Amino acid sequence: MALDSVLVVGGGGREHALAWALRKDPSVGQVHIAPGNPGTAAVGTNHLVNAVDGAAVAALAQELKADLVVVGPEAPLVAGVCDAVRAVGIPVFGPDAAAARLEGSKAFAKEVMKAANVPTAASRYCTTAAQAAAALKEFGAPYVVKNDGLAAGKGVVVTNDYDAALRHAGDCGEVVIEEYLDGPEVSLFALSDGTNVLPFDPAQDFKRVGDGDTGPNTGGMGAYTPLPWAPGDLVEEVVRTVIQPTVDELRRRGTPFTGLVYAGLALTSKGLRVVEFNARFGDPETQPLLCRLKTPLGQVLYAAATGKLADEPPLVWGAGATCAVVVAAEGYPGTPRSGDVITGGYADHIFHAGTSLNAAGELIATGGRVLAVVGSGETLAKARADAYQKVAGVHFDGAFCRNDIALKAANGEIA
Ligand code: AMP
Ligand code: GLY
Repeated sequence: MALDSVLVVGGGGREHALAWALRKDPSVGQVHIAPGNPGTAAVGTNHLVNAVDGAAVAALAQELKADLVVVGPEAPLVAGVCDAVRAVGIPVFGPDAAAARLEGSKAFAKEVMKAANVPTAASRYCTTAAQAAAALKEFGAPYVVKNDGLAAGKGVVVTNDYDAALRHAGDCGEVVIEEYLDGPEVSLFALSDGTNVLPFDPAQDFKRVGDGDTGPNTGGMGAYTPLPWAPGDLVEEVVRTVIQPTVDELRRRGTPFTGLVYAGLALTSKGLRVVEFNARFGDPETQPLLCRLKTPLGQVLYAAATGKLADEPPLVWGAGATCAVVVAAEGYPGTPRSGDVITGGYADHIFHAGTSLNAAGELIATGGRVLAVVGSGETLAKARADAYQKVAGVHFDGAFCRNDIALKAANGEIA
C-alpha cells in the first residue's frame, strides 16, 4: 500500500522521531506534522493546527488527502482526536478517547488490569484525606501517590516522607495510592489493531531528573535499547501476561484499542508488575527505538490502523544498541528558563521537543526537555559514548543532561 500522504499529530521529540522514521519508509510520500516544531520542519511540512482540536485535525487530514493519521501525544488521544479522524473515514493510528482512558485515568487502568488478571501493584483509589491516610498506612513507606488524571509524567510522587505523600494526595484530589515496587523498570511497546499485537524490543527510560535516580520525576531524561540484562523471554511473557489480556479486555468492553500500548513494568523480586500504561509511544524511548527499527514504519502503523496486524511478520531490529540523552533547560521539571539560542541543534538523530524559532529565525529553547540526542553503536557502551559525544556538540545557556544514562547497564550492573 502506497502511503502518499501521512499526517503526524503533535509537536514533540516523539513526533519528530515518528516523522523522521516515516520519511525513511520508501512507501511513504509526503510527511505532514501538526503542529510540529523546527526539527520536524526538516523532515516534513508543518501545519499550524491545534493538536487537541479534533475537528481541525480531521479537516486538515481531509485537505491533505491523508492515507494515514498518526496521533502522538496523550492529550489529543484523551480529547478524542482519533474519534474525529475515524469519523471522516481516514485510517488513524491511535486509540479512541474511550480506549485512551487506559492512560488518561490511573483508576480505570487498575480496573482493566484487575478484570484481565494483569499483574500490578495493589492499590487504593482515594478522594478524601482520610482515605489517603488510611491507604498510606496500609501500604507503608516508601509511599507511592499518583494523580488519577494526566500530568505529563509529573503526577507521581514516590517518597519516604508521610506528610509529603499526604500533601500530594490533597493537592491532586483524586489519587491512586499503591504498594511500592522494587526492581529495574522496563518500557515495552506493542502495536495493536484492536485484536492482534506486535511487540517492540524493550527499552529503559530514566524518570528522575538527577544522576543516580535522584530528584523529582520527569517525563524521561534518556533511554536505551535493547536491554542486555533482560531475560530472553521477557517480551513473550509481557505480551502473554500483560498486553494481550489488556487488549482482549478492552475489546470485550466494546472499546477496542488501536494504536500503541505502552507497558511500564517493574521486574520485581516477585515477578513482573505493571507500573503504568500509556496509550501512545513513550518519549524519549521512541527516539532510540525508531533509530534501531529496520521494518518500514508506515506500513506497520497502517496495518495496525486498518485491523491487519495479523498479517505482519515480527519487527526487525538493528543488531547494535541506541541510546538517547535528553538535553533539558535549567529549572526542568519545574518552570524551565526559556529563549536561549541553541547551536548545534540540527543533525540527523537529534530530535526536537521544546524548541522554537525566534524573530531572527534562530533556534531557541522553549520547553523543559529541549532535545533528545541519539547515539548508536555495536554495543551499549559504544552507543552511549556516541550519544554523549554528540551532546557535547549542542549548546545553549542553561542546558543540562543526566550523565549516567545507560551507564549501569553498559557496565553490567543491572540484574
Ligand atoms: P507512572 O507515571 O505511573 O509511570 O510513574 C512514574 C514513575 O514513578 C515510574 O516510572 C516509577 O519510577 C515510579 N513509580 C510509579 N509507581 C511506582 C510503584 N508502585 N513503586 C515504585 N515506583 C513507582
Ligand atoms: N518516557 C515516559 C513516557 O513517555 O511516559
